[in-house]
Amino acid sequence: MKFTLRLCALAIAGCASLPALAQQGDVNVYTYREPALIKPILDAFTKDTGIKVNIVFAKEGLEERIVAEGARSPADVLITTDFARLVQAKDLGITQPLKSKILTDAVPAALRDPDNQWFGLSYRARVAYVSKERVKDTALTYESIADPKWKGRVCLRDGQHIYNNILFAAGVAHMGKEKAEAWLTGLRDNLAKKPSGGDREVAKDIAAGACDIGFANTYYVGHMNKNPDQRPWAEAIRVILPTFKDGGTHVNLSGIAVMKHAPHAANAQKLAEWLVGETAQKMYTADNFEFPVRADTPVDPVVSGFGKLTPDNKPFAEIIKARPIAADIIDRIGFNNGPK
Ligand SMILES: [Fe+2]
Repeated sequence: MKFTLRLCALAIAGCASLPALAQQGDVNVYTYREPALIKPILDAFTKDTGIKVNIVFAKEGLEERIVAEGARSPADVLITTDFARLVQAKDLGITQPLKSKILTDAVPAALRDPDNQWFGLSYRARVAYVSKERVKDTALTYESIADPKWKGRVCLRDGQHIYNNILFAAGVAHMGKEKAEAWLTGLRDNLAKKPSGGDREVAKDIAAGACDIGFANTYYVGHMNKNPDQRPWAEAIRVILPTFKDGGTHVNLSGIAVMKHAPHAANAQKLAEWLVGETAQKMYTADNFEFPVRADTPVDPVVSGFGKLTPDNKPFAEIIKARPIAADIIDRIGFNNGPK
């Protein structure tokens, strides 16, 4: 590359084609995101920039794979569905910092790594789906759903699923271990049945009258609305944005990190910058009903209809530290066996 640049300096006439050449080539993406969501966004990036994207999809193990691949890893970027894996990637030493005004201008400081080793792209909140018919509350705390008032009325997916694990870890970070254990025990005893299914099943079960309340992610409401079979589930529920007593509503972040040994580092940076641009940010909201990190991209009307979101301000690092504690409590109290 240095040789080419020197040639350019010597022969100015030939320089015009250099920027175009520099934009060519590939970028290799390792990602946990659903193909149906991320593929159209990456296709739009290719259409816009001419940079071809090669994608490795996986449900787990990408950081470990990149560590094992070492300096020869073909991975240019890692795109995750949650912040835990971004922090883990940084801790493993497989990321590199980006100096980019585009990124630091677009992504609020709370939604990126303090050393610019990773950047948030979109986020969602973990909220309460409640029965439109049977629940009159308009505001709730996460803590209050352990009250006996909800006995036999709560539906949830697996307590160890990462969505619940991170929410429960946030609870540990807020309340401390002992109070969090009492909270989760109360929640367990309010379950209508053993935890099962996914987030959409919370709405499905509420529609069927099996329970009245449960935690689920915001974007599923948009997806259920679009699916004729699931629309009745979405219509049976209302969304409440619960807060921790001393905090806000729990959010989780999807984001990107450029890998330390990225063979196409310039293209990787271009991709990260493009993903916080208007086109991509609109796709995150319109196609996946997520919250955009850009303040000037409007949220989808379905999502803004839930009310004003105040994201919880507990530092991500503290929540991550509490994950094993939350997992241990869930095991110890037999959360997944249902109410005692
Ligand atoms: Fe999901």
